Amino acid sequence: ALTSDLKKQSQLKEVAGIPLQTATVDNWSQIQNFEAKPDDLLICTYPKAGTTWIQEIVDMIEQDADVEKCQRAVIQHRHPFIEWARPPQPSARNAKDCMVSYYYFQRMNQVLPDPGTWEEYFEAFIDGKVGWGSWFDHVKGWWEKKDRYQVLFLFYEDIKKDPKHEIQKVAQFMGKNLDETVLDKIVQETSFEKMKENPMTNRSTVPKSILDQSISPFMRKGTVGDWKNHFTVAQNEKFDEIYRKKMEGITINFCLEL
Ligand code: A3P
Repeated sequence: ALTSDLKKQSQLKEVAGIPLQTATVDNWSQIQNFEAKPDDLLICTYPKAGTTWIQEIVDMIEQDADVEKCQRAVIQHRHPFIEWARPPQPSARNAKDCMVSYYYFQRMNQVLPDPGTWEEYFEAFIDGKVGWGSWFDHVKGWWEKKDRYQVLFLFYEDIKKDPKHEIQKVAQFMGKNLDETVLDKIVQETSFEKMKENPMTNRSTVPKSILDQSISPFMRKGTVGDWKNHFTVAQNEKFDEIYRKKMEGITINFCLEL
């Protein structure tokens, strides 16, 4: 019964043409009526762009790098997902690494559809026929809104390159002044290696029937440029062409390797 229940949950439905998990669609009116308070902080990431990473950074900043306080609960409870409606700052990651990360995530996530082969997934991702919709629409949409609203636009690749500088930016955005030692501690504690070991961030408490980490770990690689190990030359050319068309007029320069 559990398996068939999970199978049912793993099918996506649509809201305004965007594929979303069934539970989200069934709760849509409640989610749409959510009213933010002026000092609410929304983390608006495309799947696999580094949601967990920025969540942990924000919590560490809020708790002045108090590691024990940040251990009070698993990350998905400290920062509930609005679309799960059990009670989003945009962060962007380059599309190619997102696609690879998402492919592995869909393989191990039993409540998302099976991604099929890499070739099939490549097409589905480009067409936006994946959960939470099109990477292109997500990034374009937030990029266009960033100057009109109080939005801090962050890049995964920048945090990877210079975590201290980027974490300082997030703290400033949150109105926090951090001591050098606090800042250094946050850098240390939010490294990939630390977060991979940390049961409050690595999803090890989620049952295997939902996240099967023997297929692919939730904290998988945490690098920039893994796409090079997956994209064929032909896929890369096709992708670049589609990217140029879909992102026309958008002046974002994504870093694709470090
Ligand atoms: P990979 O699959 O490429 O390893 P999300 O939290 O949005 O689901 O994103 C998950 C991706 O962010 C995974 O990418 C994961 O390894 C990476 N990630 C999580 N914590 C990280 C950290 N501290 N540093 C770098 N990457 C991290």
